[in-house]
Amino acid sequence: MCLMSSLADSPKVAPTTAGDFMPLHGIDHVELYVGNAAQAAYYFVHAFGFELVAYAGLETGSRDKVSHVLRSGRIRLVLSGALASDSPIAAHHHKHGDGVKVIALGVPSAEDAFREATSRGAQAVTEPHEISDAHGTVKLASIATYGETIHTFVERGAYDGPFLPGYEARSAGEPTGMLLGIDHIVGNVEDMNPWVKFYEDVFGMREMIHFSDKAISTEYSALMSKVVTNGSGSVKFPINEPADAKRKSQIEEYLEFYEGPGAQHMALATRDIIGTVAELRRRGVPFLDIPDAYYDEVPDRVPEVAPQLADLREQGILVDRDDDGYMLQIFTKPIGDRPTVFIEVIERHGAKGFGNGNFKALFEALEREQDRRGNL
Ligand code: FE2
Repeated sequence: MCLMSSLADSPKVAPTTAGDFMPLHGIDHVELYVGNAAQAAYYFVHAFGFELVAYAGLETGSRDKVSHVLRSGRIRLVLSGALASDSPIAAHHHKHGDGVKVIALGVPSAEDAFREATSRGAQAVTEPHEISDAHGTVKLASIATYGETIHTFVERGAYDGPFLPGYEARSAGEPTGMLLGIDHIVGNVEDMNPWVKFYEDVFGMREMIHFSDKAISTEYSALMSKVVTNGSGSVKFPINEPADAKRKSQIEEYLEFYEGPGAQHMALATRDIIGTVAELRRRGVPFLDIPDAYYDEVPDRVPEVAPQLADLREQGILVDRDDDGYMLQIFTKPIGDRPTVFIEVIERHGAKGFGNGNFKALFEALEREQDRRGNL
């Protein structure tokens, strides 16, 4: 490709249908800036069943930042904290609380990805650069997305270290086999359409049409959502914005307490959601409470799960379906102090949606319970 020369005299935005100008291997890792990385890492290892695999901090020569790298299946989380008050991590935490700073994307070429993205309107954060250690070389570059969140392009090549150059291998926790991959990462913004266009223009992503906002813009819902995905479907980013409804929008609450746009939740895939949620509960992970009345309608909405209804009800797991199949999902309570970032656990059986039917089902269930109390 000789894009350098052609881009100079061709500022036009690329076609938005094909993803081939921005090939993505998938989500390489997600980095959270937190107030206490040591304790956050302990929580993810002992509550969520991650394994500690790598570390960078004072002991490894990192003077300004401490990072714990955790794995579960193909998921890689990095929990980073500040070592001084003038650290950008401290500033980020001061403003947002615990939050997702980096959604890193694996790419064949960090330089190409950066050049393609910035030529299509993305704001540069870090120019392409190499970092090396005894395990090899990794190339990185970063661009801005919503709020203070960034996308880092990671070109690993033949690098065989535990995470990135500068990190040392560490070990804690056991492989639990509970959480296997990142299904999607949701962004909360004030106005979703410019961000849908951003992912279309900059990444060549497309909107997943059959789960458009119409599905959840009912009188019960309090948000609007569109989903963008890359050509292979390996990366899915739902984008939410607040909507007027009967109840205060959960997106408004997020934007208020995060003090701006940011990542709302990561959905982590499992193959055994009933067993996984039971174990996560045993380990102390708090989940959203689901009104019992929610389960009245489940066998009619999704007959496939009728044999598991008692287990789903006991664990508070939600059920949704679309034309392609059904899915099971559950949401944790916020993982930090602010009512902002949380985790979803999801098990798909063909369905390609994101649980949009659950918004209506949940609000209807709440009203049935209200009605039972004679208060509707
Ligand atoms: Fe989700």
